[in-house]
Amino acid sequence: MKVDGIAYRSVWVNPDDGWSVHIFDQTKLPWTLDILRLTTRDEGAHAIKSMQTRGAPLIGAVAAYALCLALRADASSEAMERDAALLNATRPTAVNLRWALDRMLTRLRNTAPEQRVAVAYAEAALIADEDAAQNEAIGRHGLPLIEAAVKPGRRVNVLTHCNAGWLATVDWGTALAPIYAAANAGVDLHVWVDETRPRNQGAALTAWELGKHGVSHTVVADNAGGHLMQHGDVDLVIVGTDRVTRTGDVANKIGTYLKALAAKDNGVPFWVALPSTTIDWNVVDGVAEIPIEERSPAEVTDMTGQLADGSIATMRIVSAGSPAANPAFDVTPARLVTGLITERGRCDASAAGLLGLFPERA
Ligand code: MRU
Repeated sequence: MKVDGIAYRSVWVNPDDGWSVHIFDQTKLPWTLDILRLTTRDEGAHAIKSMQTRGAPLIGAVAAYALCLALRADASSEAMERDAALLNATRPTAVNLRWALDRMLTRLRNTAPEQRVAVAYAEAALIADEDAAQNEAIGRHGLPLIEAAVKPGRRVNVLTHCNAGWLATVDWGTALAPIYAAANAGVDLHVWVDETRPRNQGAALTAWELGKHGVSHTVVADNAGGHLMQHGDVDLVIVGTDRVTRTGDVANKIGTYLKALAAKDNGVPFWVALPSTTIDWNVVDGVAEIPIEERSPAEVTDMTGQLADGSIATMRIVSAGSPAANPAFDVTPARLVTGLITERGRCDASAAGLLGLFPERA
């Protein structure tokens, strides 16, 4: 996608040296477009853990490149297994991280140590290219849902949660891919952007992305969605996901479940967009089985923003001494999900629906 006319992906290898890895520092957005240069395993692990880079598909691709950096330092089998395990432990909920590292290891275990670095970079590049292509396909398969919601003389209102745009993937995004496809097709479209406390990925990242692409949008407090739906102001909800079970349960940023409940009560279609790399075929019951990341209480007690003089400041917003809890994801049961949008098309959020699109998983 383009920022101020320049085409970017969310992760890329430095063309000058051919090995270091660039990402955007997403903790600095929307105030500054800072590009980081990762040169070691630990810089890669830190970038994922601190959420300088984030979003399920993107952390998979960045972890793959971080393993390349680790192999440059030590390509022995022992070090490779250790470094992959270390990277895998950086964030627990998004399954794409494990998927990407498993794919890298499967390729590299059968490769001689002296050839591993070159093979690893080639595999990581494939992972990145495939993610971009899958998300572009999600955009094509999601577009008809938005087009079907067009009514004469009235814009289509889509609500989304967190950031499942191109910043959360290698390119295009998942939930935002159909939105970009609709905007590019000239559909009169408006997006309600949940601010997404506590880290504000909606307010900071989704709003920034949509603004850069010229998509009409409005940021709302997380609690506003139910009200908007009751008043007919939301035609459909599209969110991304960090892990989908083989039965269609959906883990996504905390607060997604409440939006799905409100959508069900108001008859608003609730769609989830994902590349197949986000499906955990080993998990049946999402609520019971998907590990939910607990992040620092400071993300709840403190907020970072820009002061009138342009400087960035962090301040406490919670009563001194009050503790805070910070579960970062929740699980929306499949019964609340209208359907899934994947790179192979749309399906019911169910085992039968998913197996219909991915019969090789039967
Ligand atoms: O904690 P984050 O910001 O990494 O969480 C991201 C989300 O929950 C996204 O909605 C999800 O990863 C889908 S990304 C295309």
